[in-house]
Amino acid sequence: MSAFIEAASPHTMNTYGRLPIALSHGQGCRVWDVNGREYLDALAGIAVNTLGHNHPQLVPALQDQISKLIHTCNYYHVPNAERLAAKLVELSGMQNVFFCSTGLEANEAAIKLARKFGHDRGIERPKIVVYEKAFHGRSIATLSATGNTRIQQGFGPLVEGVVRVPLNDIEALKAVAQDPDVVAVFFETIQGEGGINPMRWDYLRQVRALCDEQNWLLMIDEVQCGMGRTGKWFAHQWAGIVPDVMPLAKGLGSGVPIGAVVAGPKAANIFQPGSHGTTFGGNPLAMRAGVETIRIMEEDGLLENAARVGAHLKARLEEALAGRAGVREVRGHGLMLGIELERPCGVLTQRCADAGLLISVTADSVIRLVPPLLLTLAEADEIVARLVPLVHAFLTESA
Ligand SMILES: Cc1ncc(COP(=O)(O)O)c(C=O)c1O
Repeated sequence: MSAFIEAASPHTMNTYGRLPIALSHGQGCRVWDVNGREYLDALAGIAVNTLGHNHPQLVPALQDQISKLIHTCNYYHVPNAERLAAKLVELSGMQNVFFCSTGLEANEAAIKLARKFGHDRGIERPKIVVYEKAFHGRSIATLSATGNTRIQQGFGPLVEGVVRVPLNDIEALKAVAQDPDVVAVFFETIQGEGGINPMRWDYLRQVRALCDEQNWLLMIDEVQCGMGRTGKWFAHQWAGIVPDVMPLAKGLGSGVPIGAVVAGPKAANIFQPGSHGTTFGGNPLAMRAGVETIRIMEEDGLLENAARVGAHLKARLEEALAGRAGVREVRGHGLMLGIELERPCGVLTQRCADAGLLISVTADSVIRLVPPLLLTLAEADEIVARLVPLVHAFLTESA
């Protein structure tokens, strides 16, 4: 295998700290590498493979679509785009949708909506409130909204017009309300890359009320925490609120690249022909993937599964790590869980892989578990059985 990896590497830019693993195929929540080694997939391509791998209904549907049309372009209607948009409107309680291909693109569209919303109100230099530890993507605008100076470094000048506040602190947000140029508030319901940091449900309701009072757009990045991962279609629904703008991507196409921005009445008519666009957005393959993903999720009760199996996994992890020195917290909702340790633990990704388990470590010291939504209780127990001994062993080593 090492020969394969060396041969595969010199011509691709050195942008990722990759593990020395090349995956070959998968089935359900399991994947195999090119040497035939099996892994339990608790990462799902970073919260992307909603339906796991080689799903018996998704694969034939995509094969059928590929044999008909992969891509047309936005000069023509795509019937499944209307179908998927209608479904997202129904599930979100919002009004319409713009399709693109990635999370950062969805967030770029959200940022443009907020700026145009401001300009339409006569605000020349509109500002968007963003959060500490946020992650919204790697384009210049989304990087500017991201709250991680390490990944911003070397790419300045960043775009102006963002104001940063701490999480779950309504007074900090109210202080920002003094600035007449603020037009929107933008956050992840549960920060993913920032370390699985949930917003409190009561805080979300306070933010919704403040946005209404100030006539700001409430923009919720559900790229990672949305699409059923927490046991609701969108994580903010636990707080009983509806945003004005909601970027989606990752799990929406179960692995086929797709992004979407869902807009409520306040944002639904901001873009007009010529305001925004993208070549691949809304193409027949991606739209079929989105339609089929949601259909299968509904038929198979995957929201309930994510809530039930996620609660079980969290409880088992809490139990197994209770009182363990070096463990700060097990947190998250549904199948979006993080275990924060007191020190950086990036080495655990390789050690877990060696033990047949795919995970990631984010924000240096948070073990992230975002498996496919069809994870079973037995597979959740298997994650615990493989992961917990490695955490204990890691914590007994000197720092
Ligand atoms: C919350 C959130 N927003 C945006 C993005 C960027 O998505 P993409 O990598 O598809 O551009 C990510 C990716 O991890 C994310 O977690």
